[in-house]
Amino acid sequence: MSIVTQLDHPMLQHKLTLLRSKDTCSKDFRNIVKEIAILMAYEVTRNFPLEEIEIETPIAKMKSKIVSGKTVAIVPILRAGLGMVDGVLEVIPAAKVGHVGLYRNEETLTPVEYYFKMPKDIEQRTVIITEPMCATGGSIIAAVNLLKNRGVKNIKVMCLVVAEPGIKAVEAVHPDIEIFTVGYDKELNERGYITPGLGDAGDRLFGTK
Ligand code: PRP
Ligand code: URA
Repeated sequence: MSIVTQLDHPMLQHKLTLLRSKDTCSKDFRNIVKEIAILMAYEVTRNFPLEEIEIETPIAKMKSKIVSGKTVAIVPILRAGLGMVDGVLEVIPAAKVGHVGLYRNEETLTPVEYYFKMPKDIEQRTVIITEPMCATGGSIIAAVNLLKNRGVKNIKVMCLVVAEPGIKAVEAVHPDIEIFTVGYDKELNERGYITPGLGDAGDRLFGTK
């Protein structure tokens, strides 16, 4: 079974088309990434376990179900993953946020680590990594390695667009994680960019370059 779930909801597909268009400006790009993250978080949390607690309505006592948001950590891969954090927090407001700083060496395309800061109890949490692009898969593999080294067992990744070679690479090393995506493209160009993709997610989010 594949580690990837492609989300085909019409609103997600519609919003991804807006993101892919080169005519979408940074301000709109940021807003749409947040909207997509909200909709994706709904799907990513679909199988979260529920527990029953006792409450009192204005009419009577009852047992009712809750998801404990305290068991989740959102971990954006800097920089571009930051764009999805606020959207996930809208759905899971009690989640803690850790950060992994990685950038791709433009020549070797391998990830370089420059920051790692996690909540103290990270090993007890379900981690949702936010990483808009899975190109070679190197960044996701490196982030998952770092988290597993800290004892994290349950890892889900939210992407906007993945490429087949990247997914194959991640699957070979980490077959136990789940990746959710809206777009699933076939290939990379000679500079390691997803084709057709949406360009450089970090630059488009933050208006750099
Ligand atoms: C980009 C993107 C991913 C990574 C994906 O990061 O945001 O983190 O490349 O590529 P991979 O699957 O081949 O590892 P970039 O180096 O551009 O850093 P940025 O997020 O700071 O812009
Ligand atoms: N990083 C991006 O932002 N876009 C790509 O297509 C590949 C890596």
